[in-house]
Amino acid sequence: MPKITIIGAGAVGATAAQRIAETELGDVVMTDIVEGLAQGKALDLAEAGPLCGYDSKVTGTNDYKDIEGSDVVVVTAGIARKPGMTREDLLKINGKIIREVSQNIAKYAPESVVITVTNPLDIMTHVTLKTTGFEPRRVFGMSGVLDSGRFATFIAMELGCSVRDISAMVLGGHGDTMVPLPRFTTVSGVPITELMSKDTIQHLVERTVNGGAEIVNLLKTGSAFYAPSAAVTNMVEAVLKDTKRVMPVCAYLDGEYGNKDIYLGVPVKLGRNGVEEIIEIELTADEKKSLDRSAEAVRSGIASLKVWG
Ligand code: APR
Repeated sequence: MPKITIIGAGAVGATAAQRIAETELGDVVMTDIVEGLAQGKALDLAEAGPLCGYDSKVTGTNDYKDIEGSDVVVVTAGIARKPGMTREDLLKINGKIIREVSQNIAKYAPESVVITVTNPLDIMTHVTLKTTGFEPRRVFGMSGVLDSGRFATFIAMELGCSVRDISAMVLGGHGDTMVPLPRFTTVSGVPITELMSKDTIQHLVERTVNGGAEIVNLLKTGSAFYAPSAAVTNMVEAVLKDTKRVMPVCAYLDGEYGNKDIYLGVPVKLGRNGVEEIIEIELTADEKKSLDRSAEAVRSGIASLKVWG
């Protein structure tokens, strides 16, 4: 059985553990900084095994030694932005957590493929790369799969069609500077630009860009975790089963899309080696401008982290 480690046994981490166990992608190890949290949730999930009929082992720990031999490590450790906290504050706190987590991944799971989930995503994935020193193809982030899932949901609601027939494409940063691509978004191969008015598409695009905030506003405390954990599971599956599925992934760009030494959401082929290929599609001038705006926002975040050291 492959070994999947999930660092951070909070809402996204524990739900991802549940989905991964239920689909028997491998044995799951959960770890958290809070004493007993990962152990308690893991035991609960293990006890669901006989009832749901899965044989995946789920264990919890506070000791990084237990992540040794992991094939995939999913990083959800961090804190959420609280009222009164600026983006910079969050960047600083989560940056420190991700550095510490990444040092342990490099020490105990040096052969693993790492999927970062902690926000601000594009910047945290960059920190993971630089701290682990892994090859860029083995370090990438979950953003576009979730964002395209949200876009697909809103399109299906609008058209009254099955979500299964929708293939949505979203590029760019995870957040305000996301770049949904309607002309590459289809319903059974038909671009949505043929099926909906410009205004309707614009409305769905805006809802997608604000998808995370819409859920935060409803929940009042906490943020989305069902769809994020489903997106993580899709990516873990693509890696462990070496499916070579093409998905929007927060990947390291080394000149692709005219950007260098930066993480951004782009379509990639995912397999056992991680990001096996970055697929470059020709963008319109407007799309390219939006992507560059995304890159600028990520770059300024990285620059401010460097200032803080
Ligand atoms: N090491 C390990 N775990 C840590 C550390 C650390 N240094 N610091 C915090 N954690 C743990 C917390 O104890 C908590 O259990 O990370 C977990 C985060 O879980 P939640 O607060 O429930 O957050 P969640 O909703 O799961 O989101 C996690 O994913 O989607 C993103 O924006 C979201 O950055 C956030 C992350």
